[in-house]
Amino acid sequence: MARRKIYQVGDDTLRQISKPVTEFDDKLSALMDDMIDTLVYADGAGLAAPQVGVLKRIFVATFDGGRTFVEAVNPVIVQAKGKRVAAEGCLSIPSVSEKVERPRHVVVNAFDRHGNPIVLKADNFEASCYCHEIDHLDGILFTDKSLRRKNR
Ligand code: CO
Repeated sequence: MARRKIYQVGDDTLRQISKPVTEFDDKLSALMDDMIDTLVYADGAGLAAPQVGVLKRIFVATFDGGRTFVEAVNPVIVQAKGKRVAAEGCLSIPSVSEKVERPRHVVVNAFDRHGNPIVLKADNFEASCYCHEIDHLDGILFTDKSLRRKNR
């Protein structure tokens, strides 16, 4: 495992559309281990592959301070219900916190690092996190959606 550099806002890499993963191999596993290492070191909740400069549809997340991890490859939101407004931040946009409206409940279909299908069901903070990370895979940053920006 190795920590990787977290790309910062302003870098064009963060604005690209990531490609689906097609090879579930050792290289993918190594990347995901590095992403977890990077996430823990940065003390974040979620990290998407483009944030470490890899334009592939992958994110990792932790909701217990780095004890257990959610890993998602090729995630797709298949169900979104309700609304919730909450402040968000991003490891690529340090010291910025802005309110974003997200679905309150989501269901995400994805794959684990071995290519097995998984279903992630999440509410509230976790749902927002999944939406935030999946946005990264489409070159979208939370500040694009912030209510502050909408109201200006
Ligand atoms: Co982010």
